[in-house]
Amino acid sequence: MKMRTHTCGQLRSAEAGTPVQLCGWVDSVRDHGGLVFIDLRDRYGVTQCVFDPRDSQAAWDTAQACRSEYVVQISGEVRLRPADMVNPHMATGTIEVRSRSITVLNKAHTPPFPLEDRGAEHVGEDLRLEFRYLDLRRGSMQQALLLRHRVLQAARNYFDEQQFVEIETPVLTKSTPEGARDYLVPSRLCPGLFFALPQAPQQYKQLLMMAGLDRYFQIARCFRDEDLRADRQPEFTQIDLEMSFVTVEDIIAVVDGLIARVMQEAGHPVPALPLPRMTWREAMDRFGTDKPDLRFGMEIVDLAQVFHGTQFKVFARALENGGAVKAINAKGLFQAPIKMVEEDWTGLAKEGGLGGLAYIRVQQDGTWKSPIVKFFSEAEKTALQAALDIQPGDLVLFGADHADKVLPVLGRLRLLAGAHAGVIAPDQFRFTWVTGFPLFERSEEGRLVSVHHPFTAPVPEDLPLLDSEPEQVRAQAYDIVLNGTELGGGSIRIHDPEFQARMFKILGLPEAEVQERFRHLLRALEYGAPPHGGLAIGADRLVMLLAGRQSIRDVIAFPKTQKALDVMMNAPSAVDEKQLRDIHIKLAVTPKAEP
Ligand code: AMO
Ligand code: AMP
Repeated sequence: MKMRTHTCGQLRSAEAGTPVQLCGWVDSVRDHGGLVFIDLRDRYGVTQCVFDPRDSQAAWDTAQACRSEYVVQISGEVRLRPADMVNPHMATGTIEVRSRSITVLNKAHTPPFPLEDRGAEHVGEDLRLEFRYLDLRRGSMQQALLLRHRVLQAARNYFDEQQFVEIETPVLTKSTPEGARDYLVPSRLCPGLFFALPQAPQQYKQLLMMAGLDRYFQIARCFRDEDLRADRQPEFTQIDLEMSFVTVEDIIAVVDGLIARVMQEAGHPVPALPLPRMTWREAMDRFGTDKPDLRFGMEIVDLAQVFHGTQFKVFARALENGGAVKAINAKGLFQAPIKMVEEDWTGLAKEGGLGGLAYIRVQQDGTWKSPIVKFFSEAEKTALQAALDIQPGDLVLFGADHADKVLPVLGRLRLLAGAHAGVIAPDQFRFTWVTGFPLFERSEEGRLVSVHHPFTAPVPEDLPLLDSEPEQVRAQAYDIVLNGTELGGGSIRIHDPEFQARMFKILGLPEAEVQERFRHLLRALEYGAPPHGGLAIGADRLVMLLAGRQSIRDVIAFPKTQKALDVMMNAPSAVDEKQLRDIHIKLAVTPKAEP
């Protein structure tokens, strides 16, 4: 005998008269003048079960003693609801189960927070995470996990159709240079030595290309000990791929197809392919960021022409020093609170290294209110009006300094202004590729570091600049961006061992360190490495955006808190002396549960 004949989301009018047995959680118990109603819930839906003492006094007694979240088994028969009791908002709203028996399979304490979707936003996230198994009973959380499943399943099918091989790579491995801190695992057998958890399967997937696997993918768990944000977790999942004998175009085409498939699976409009592209330079110049949000305008406009030879000192000085004057037109925001502009937004400009934030508020009658327009000539005003298409009601925000300071500031202000104006449509999906990233950037100490990672190949025509002007060299690297979030990134890799060794040298890695960290890779390159490249998409970020959530924690079953803790399992936690002795570790601190 099966425990249940149907799920709680399955029964319809057609089953009227059928004997059924359902199992699930008590969503609610209501006592209506002698009749007891239990809404019975499982992953598939909710079914109304009615207990009449004339059918069974014993069942009625048990039913009315049930509390929310009790786990019960109910048997009875399906009947149509009276016309005035039909609930059009419920999939099972035309029927109910006339219940003849009920067995309590398990009782439940009152949950520490309500499990309805409404009201959940008032519950502290730490409490939700401590009782994650209860939080996950909520419909919206289950929908997110189901969407995640469908997206990953669609990705698997897609890659399989495209002849990719799914291969698992080790989790106990060696430090890789993806830019974050490693999570380390001490070795018991080799005293004093450590494994690192992978920040990405980067080197393994390259080695798989050298092994001749040609097309690899993996839904890969990655570990990075870095400061957390809404779109960062210490442990996250990549949709990781690598391909041999390919150019940038081949990889972009495969990922375009994946995006189309995934959008379809999630029930969103499928974007036209190929997905749009822009260069990194264009993204920076127009949007002030390498991950532009294309859902709205307010683009950055260069005003060097307009203010060439200006009397306004702040702008003149910037231009004379080889800097830039740029602005955005925050359309319609002339009434933005002055405190926000002069304190919050100006503060942000100062944090970004600018001397201040000049602005013009364009009144409805067309007059410009601003501390600085008195310094502008008529010709400058006319040219400015045309350059930014200034209309009554606009707010213009200026930055003047070196372009690499001005652009990020205006990029951030553009997002704030767009949000403030309410012009960023939450239900739109605007993808773009960003290509031609610089190969290097300067670290805070002034050292050259890889923008992507040290296995990334440069654009061939930029090779002559490698020693003379390394910062001008572009990489064969590309990011896929959705609505202002970096979804994924990748590159064509270096497949020439000598060039890879040269790259490590340019990055200032001492030979001994190169040998220690990358000998395996350099050696493998010497045994016949095909040209290859790949990319990794942040699966959590992808599902978060497809599900319309604000945090990747909402699409991860068991995420860590902002402080990188698992408050449900209570991890990390202290271990006993013997375990420490086994792995040759002596603590220099008293264990402390709070970071
Ligand atoms: P990268 O470091 O850009 O590239 O990572 C790829 C994508 O992974 C996601 N991601 C994260 N998601 C959640 N939490 C994090 N802490 C986190 N860090 C990164 C982002 C990012 O775009 N091996 C290379 C890929 C390659 O070259 O093929 C790599 O890991 O969405
Ligand atoms: P000041 O001459 O410093 O009083 O600045 C005059 C106006 O220009 C003020 O509104 C400042 O906020 C603004 N301002 C100052 N420095 C910059 C800058 N680097 N970029 C944009 N605006 C600036």
